[in-house]
Amino acid sequence: MASPQPILPYAAPRVGVRFAGVASQLPSRVLSNADIATIVDTNDEWIFQRTGIRERRVCDRAKGESNRWLCSESLRKALINANLPAAELDLIICGTISQDLRCPSTACLVASDIGAGTAAAWDLGAACCGFVYGINIAHDLIRMGNYRNIGVIGCDTISAIVDYTNRGVCILFGDGAGAAVLRATDDTTKGCLAQVNKADGTGWLDLYMPAEQWQIPDNADRTQQRVGCLHMNGKAVFKFAVSTFQELIAETLAKASISADEVDVFVCHQSNMRILEAARERFGIPAEKLHTNIDRVGNTSAGSVPLVLDELVREGKVREGQKVMFVAFGAGLTWTASLWQM
Ligand code: COA
Repeated sequence: MASPQPILPYAAPRVGVRFAGVASQLPSRVLSNADIATIVDTNDEWIFQRTGIRERRVCDRAKGESNRWLCSESLRKALINANLPAAELDLIICGTISQDLRCPSTACLVASDIGAGTAAAWDLGAACCGFVYGINIAHDLIRMGNYRNIGVIGCDTISAIVDYTNRGVCILFGDGAGAAVLRATDDTTKGCLAQVNKADGTGWLDLYMPAEQWQIPDNADRTQQRVGCLHMNGKAVFKFAVSTFQELIAETLAKASISADEVDVFVCHQSNMRILEAARERFGIPAEKLHTNIDRVGNTSAGSVPLVLDELVREGKVREGQKVMFVAFGAGLTWTASLWQM
C-alpha cells in the first residue's frame, strides 16, 4: 500500500496575514449554577468541581438577542477595531451550528446587518471548531491572493437547543460570539505557521442534535434523546477531548518545528476546566500562558476561542510579534489547531 503523502509546509509566502481587529459579544442574561439548581437536581459545588463553571450567559429573546445579533455585533466591533469599513470585506465566514434560520446562512444576514455589500458569505458547521477551522481557511484564501479582507465569526446559542431537564448537558453550555478581521499584509513573516484540521464522523453519536425522530438510531436510548436537543455522551467526549487536545498540540508544534515553551499564548476551547488542566500539565504550560474564562461563560461552542482571544487582546496579552496557538475540538467529532506568528 502506498504510504500517505506528507502535507508540505507552506511555500515561501508572497503575502502575509494578520489579525487586524478582534471583538466579542455576550448576551445580557446571566444563568448561574444556583439558577440551574432551581431547574434540575444539581448544585454549584458539583458543577464547579466537574467543569470549572460558575455561570454562563444566555440570550434574552425579549431583548432581541439571538445568534444573528451576537454575530453581527461581534463582527461590527471587530471591523471598528480593524479600522476597516464593512464594505471592504471580501468574505464573511460564520462558524456556527445554532443559526436562527436554516436558510439563508447567518453570514448572509450579518453581511446585510453590517453593510458588507456583496461580500461572499457562508456558514461553517464544525461545532466548537467553527472559528479555528474558519481562520485556517481564511488564512489560506488570503495567502492564495484572491481575498484580502475576511471576517471570521465563531458563535453559538446552544441555549436554544439544550434540554434544561438534562443535568448532564445543560450545566455546560452558554451563548456567546467573537469575531476577527483577517487582512493581507506586505509583512510576509505574519501568518499561520502550522495548522491541523481533522474530523472523525464515526463518533457523531457522542454529541449530536436530532432534528427529527427518525434521526435517532434504533439502538439509542430514546428516553434520553429528545428531538431538537443536544445529546451528549459526556464520558466519551471527555476521553476524546483529553487525548485529542494533547495530540493536537504535539502535532502542531512538530509541524512548525518548535517546542511548547516557544509559544507565547495558547488560546483554547473552553470545554471543561479539567480538560484544560490536563493539557497544561502534559506540556508544562504555565497558567498565565493558557487563559481561561470558562468560570464566567461556560462552554460557548464556536464562540469559545474568539471570546478568549478578545479578552486577551483587550488585556494586552496577545500582541504583535508573539506566537499564538489556537486549539479546539467538538462535535463531529472535529478537532483543529492553528499556530500563528502575530
Ligand atoms: N449534578 C449532579 N449530579 C450529576 C450531574 C449534575 N449536573 N450530572 C450528572 N450527575 C450525576 C450522574 O447522574 C451520576 O450519578 P450516579 O453515579 O448516581 O449514576 C454521577 O453524577 C456521575 O455522572 P457522570 O455523567 O459519570 O459524570 P462525569 O464525571 O462524567 O461528569 C460531565 C459529567 C458532563 C461534567 C463530564 O462528562 C464532561 O465534562 N464531559 C465532557 C463534556 C464536554 O466537554 N463537552 C463538550 C465538548 S466540546
